[in-house]
Amino acid sequence: MPQNRAYKRRNRSPYLFILLVVLLLTAALVVGARAMNTWKVYEAEAAVTPAPTPTVTPISVTPDPARVTPAPTPVPTPAPSPTPGLLSSGAQGEAVKQLQTRLQELGYYSGKIDGDYGSGTKSAVQMFQKINGLDADGIAGQKTQAVLYSDAALPAPGPVDTLEGDIPLLVNASHPLPDGFEPADLVKVKDIAGSLMTYETNSIQAVREAAEALTRMLQDAVNDGYKPWKLREAYRTIADQQRIFNNRVNGYMNENNLTRSQAIARTRQSVADPGCSEHHTGLAFDLNVTGETFSDTAQYLWLKQHCWDYGFIMRYTDEKSDITGITGEEWHVRYVGVEHSTKMRDMDYCLEEYVAWLENQ
Ligand code: DAL
Ligand code: ZN
Repeated sequence: MPQNRAYKRRNRSPYLFILLVVLLLTAALVVGARAMNTWKVYEAEAAVTPAPTPTVTPISVTPDPARVTPAPTPVPTPAPSPTPGLLSSGAQGEAVKQLQTRLQELGYYSGKIDGDYGSGTKSAVQMFQKINGLDADGIAGQKTQAVLYSDAALPAPGPVDTLEGDIPLLVNASHPLPDGFEPADLVKVKDIAGSLMTYETNSIQAVREAAEALTRMLQDAVNDGYKPWKLREAYRTIADQQRIFNNRVNGYMNENNLTRSQAIARTRQSVADPGCSEHHTGLAFDLNVTGETFSDTAQYLWLKQHCWDYGFIMRYTDEKSDITGITGEEWHVRYVGVEHSTKMRDMDYCLEEYVAWLENQ
């Protein structure tokens, strides 16, 4: 029967094999179906559950230039008016405000920043042009503005101490003051002297030390019974002097029928050219007695005798007019300080002679 067992064993093996295949297929189907189900559930959940908002950490990304559309080129904001059109008297607006602001920064303009190109703005432009070697026409054209807004723009010179130094400041036709000259320590004479005298205008200015000396002098004159006094003029700007000079020239032309050059030559005997007047120094005073010719008054005689003791000189006398270049002016006194004035009296020197003498010491 061993043969039978062997036969039986051989005959049973195909059934076992088939059974094994069926079992394997069934297992594969079950596993596949479960996997499909899990996927579907996942898809359904993803459809209804909002994805968590991702936390974004900002990072800097360097874009690939080849892939980035270039941003439009920025239009530069215009700098404060350095490329402007011409500005002159009567102009108005922002460009004038910028001009005034720049002139103020550089010390040429102290008026209002109002955008109106008036006479103050014009003279500031003229002064700027003079100091900076430009044509002083008072018009802010391209050339003037190019210098004005550049780093090379020269500022206005500062106020000068007109009493500084061992030698008194000499101002005449051959000793003009520099462009932009301005005396330091100007005060209103009326603020110092009050009602000691009357004033052509209440705003007349002079250097403080000179105004104080004038006050002491006139106080003593008044105490001696020499009064009244009037102050006609003291400090003058270049524009003041130009106006006085022009008026005198026009007067000679209109009333004396002189040609312009004749009128100018005659004017120069009594009025200094602008820049050449010692009234610019704030140290000169024109005194007067209302309604009288000053040279005929007792006040003049007192002044001529005593001014030296207070630091003043009679600046223009007929005797020295060939040296000073100016005809006699009895009303015009100049402060030089007592040390100099008393020496000048004792030596009988006018300022030109005295300064030359000092310089030779
Ligand atoms: N009258 C004097 C000279 C001046 O003009 O300064
Ligand atoms: Zn004078």
